[in-house]
Amino acid sequence: MAFKNLLTKVESNLGWIIINRPDKLNALNGETIKELQEAFLSFQEDPEVKAIVLTGSGEKAFVAGADITELARLDQSGGKDYVLKGQELTKIIENFPKPVIAAVNGYALGGGTEIALACHIRIASENAKMGQPEVKLGLIPGYGGTQRLARLVGKGQAMELVLSGRIIDADEALRIGLVNRVVPQADLLPTCEAVAKEIVTNAPLALEYAITAINRGLEKTLEAGLLLEADLFGQACATEDSKEGTQAFIEKRKANFQGK
Ligand code: COA
Repeated sequence: MAFKNLLTKVESNLGWIIINRPDKLNALNGETIKELQEAFLSFQEDPEVKAIVLTGSGEKAFVAGADITELARLDQSGGKDYVLKGQELTKIIENFPKPVIAAVNGYALGGGTEIALACHIRIASENAKMGQPEVKLGLIPGYGGTQRLARLVGKGQAMELVLSGRIIDADEALRIGLVNRVVPQADLLPTCEAVAKEIVTNAPLALEYAITAINRGLEKTLEAGLLLEADLFGQACATEDSKEGTQAFIEKRKANFQGK
């Protein structure tokens, strides 16, 4: 895969997507959104790829937001169309059938926080700075910030972040549950790699069903969510990997999962 604004690679079953516009602090223009979509869909089809780490190039920024030069040109219908395209990408990431880890390596502002919010797990470096500063531009978050942030950190914290537009540091992001952990910058990618490797030793279809159960369940009542969990548990029981996983435990050996 060759992209203008991304670097991608596959190493030891991990797909890496590195947003690569360092001179613009990896700001997301329309072209980059389109390329990200293509990269994710291509890794979805690639059986070699069992999990994804998404990060920004350089040591300063994950993504410093949507490209403000593009935002400056939007009218009412153009603005709606513009964010719907970005939302399409965040939905692909959120519902990706393989685990996606955001390695937040610096500024993750506006669309940067929103892309990280769509990922399944967020790990930040100590220099990370996150926030939803759109109101300072006369705008509101448009790539899911008003929705996923409130669902992740609660309505009160989301209201304060979105209404103040305040940029918070990594420790604050950890305290409110916006990121899962904070590590020194030099340890960021190795930590993400280690977490991804730990996850991909597990049965691939079980990972996919678990992602679906958590994502869809949060949209439902507890009762409906539990029913969904039961349905997906049943589907997991029908996989060859569940037979292999349970048998391997009984035989005191390591499971050999095939993703079937
Ligand atoms: N859109 C477009 N360009 C952006 C950008 C964005 N969201 N964020 C940074 N850039 C560009 C800058 O315009 C600058 O380009 P230039 O060198 O051609 O002038 C380059 O990236 C470097 O940014 P700069 O502002 O010089 O770096 P800094 O270290 O002084 O400040 C930030 C870093 C993140 C505080 C600052 O760039 C910023 O506030 N960015 C916008 C953040 C934002 O509001 N994002 C939400 C958008 S919805």
